[in-house]
Amino acid sequence: MLVLQARRSTQPLLILFFVFMCIDVESIGINWGTMATHQLPPDMVVQMLKNNGINKIKLFEADNKILTALSGTDIEVMLAIPNDMLAEMSGDNGVAAAYWVKENVTQYTYNSAVNISITFVYAIDCLLFVLKNQFQYRISCPIGFLSKLYRVSWYVAVGNEPFHETHNGIYFNVTLPALRNIQNALNDAGLGSKIKATVPFNADVYFSPDWNPVPSGGDFRPDIRDLIIQLVQYLSENGSPFTINIYPFLSLYRNENFPKEFAFFDGANMPVQDGDAKYTNLFDAYLDTLLWALRRAGYPNMQIIVGEIGWPTDGDKHANVAYAKRFNEGLIQHILSGRGTPVRRGEIEIYISSLFDENCKILVHGTFERHWGILEYDGKPKYDINLSGNQAKKGLIGAQNVQYLSNCTSLGYGSYGNHLTPHKIPGMVLTCLTCIVRRVTRKAGTVISLVWQKRLWNTSTE
Ligand SMILES: *[C@@H]1O[C@H](CO)[C@@H](O)[C@H](O)[C@H]1NC(C)=O
Ligand SMILES: *[C@@H]1O[C@H](CO)[C@@H](O)[C@H](O)[C@H]1NC(C)=O
Ligand SMILES: *[C@@H]1O[C@H](CO)[C@@H](O)[C@H](O)[C@H]1NC(C)=O
Ligand SMILES: *[C@@H]1O[C@H](CO)[C@@H](O)[C@H](O)[C@H]1NC(C)=O
Ligand SMILES: *[C@@H]1O[C@H](CO)[C@@H](O)[C@H](O)[C@H]1NC(C)=O
Ligand SMILES: *[C@@H]1O[C@H](CO)[C@@H](O)[C@H](O)[C@H]1NC(C)=O
Repeated sequence: MLVLQARRSTQPLLILFFVFMCIDVESIGINWGTMATHQLPPDMVVQMLKNNGINKIKLFEADNKILTALSGTDIEVMLAIPNDMLAEMSGDNGVAAAYWVKENVTQYTYNSAVNISITFVYAIDCLLFVLKNQFQYRISCPIGFLSKLYRVSWYVAVGNEPFHETHNGIYFNVTLPALRNIQNALNDAGLGSKIKATVPFNADVYFSPDWNPVPSGGDFRPDIRDLIIQLVQYLSENGSPFTINIYPFLSLYRNENFPKEFAFFDGANMPVQDGDAKYTNLFDAYLDTLLWALRRAGYPNMQIIVGEIGWPTDGDKHANVAYAKRFNEGLIQHILSGRGTPVRRGEIEIYISSLFDENCKILVHGTFERHWGILEYDGKPKYDINLSGNQAKKGLIGAQNVQYLSNCTSLGYGSYGNHLTPHKIPGMVLTCLTCIVRRVTRKAGTVISLVWQKRLWNTSTE
């Protein structure tokens, strides 16, 4: 007892210290897209995520095998409902939404930190260890318990950029009702405090006017302003975040004269002055334009999540490994520094785009859209990147125990080099694999994607 009391006074400080460390790590997640003919077994990917200390993942669609692999782990999930399901989710007095939540969320959260009753079981176990005075638990238990109890652990992303101009407004009428139905279904399942529904928007939902092209001029696009504000009001009442996808790469891609340094995080020499605020990178400027738009709408304190952000490694003259590394490294350092933006100081939650290259993604702009991965399709890191900001950590750890079928290897690797060349894939697919054709919606419009049934990699987990 004496020992316990003597140490007690230092504990709050230590706890605070560890809590801040935990928060640091938790602000960086990764998008795990699956529009690829060649995918690693989910168990193998989940192991790789754990090896790298990645504990937040965003999925574009509920996939039974992936969710099963994630279930029971501490990895937080943002799970999206594809746009083409929004109409269904919006109707029916919420019956379809309730069914979606039951089938795609509840059954996987049964064993996870999302489940509040499991949090309390954890707390009791912990307390027993602490009472037995097993020192190693005395710090980790209270932190684990508090973070499990108070942290929102999952998100459901209702649609993906449903108000993007390329959709011509077909989702305007269904997005808010779908959002409401999904959140109600989560609440009814007893998950409302741990799982929040949100809508990832494209950065084209807001703008700065030509006569005042600085963040403080920010406002929502006039044609959807009322609708967005209704959505924001709902999110705000429900304690849910506003999710925005930001792609500085596209600014460089679309505009030859765009100052390159500003797209990265190296624009200190040519800052943009906006009143008292000085902007040295596009990321801050984009984010603050949104914060100003929200402030104008009367929601200055809205929580923001950056749902997608990254840099491609191929398919355009500005898309290469060196630039991707430079951008992502600058981004991560910026996020982990906790400096925030001129309008809002502090941590920003982001999901990097993305884990793997996706050779079946629709090409609206160019082939770079299939090369956002920080890993090759087979789980090899493309470049070294320091995701945790941890001093000791040695770069990215690739997927372990990947095996290649010898006869496909020569086709995949020998002929095309180490990068999967998208337009050459179908030939290989036909040679090696049985494919089915399935319709998948992601980004602008409907996509035909090849989903392969037989895996190229011969792993014992399959
Ligand atoms: C669960 O999600 C998948 C993928 O989006 C979808 O195909 C399926 O219909 C969903 N289940 C229900 C009951 O809505
Ligand atoms: C949480 O786990 C308990 C069993 O430990 C289970 O009875 C309950 O239904 C689960 N709740 C959810 C929302 O998964
Ligand atoms: C959305 O609702 C409005 C008003 O009810 C209607 O006029 C409009 O046609 C609808 N749009 C779509 C795409 O369904
Ligand atoms: C990782 O990033 C942190 C913070 O930015 C830095 O202090 C550390 O030196 C980096 N570690 C490596 C191995 O590069
Ligand atoms: C490739 O391997 C599969 C499975 O071992 C085998 O059935 C097939 O005949 C092989 N194809 C070629 C071209 O060697
Ligand atoms: C696949 O792996 C299993 C188990 O390691 C092995 O028995 C089998 O021969 C392998 N098949 C091929 C085509 O390499």
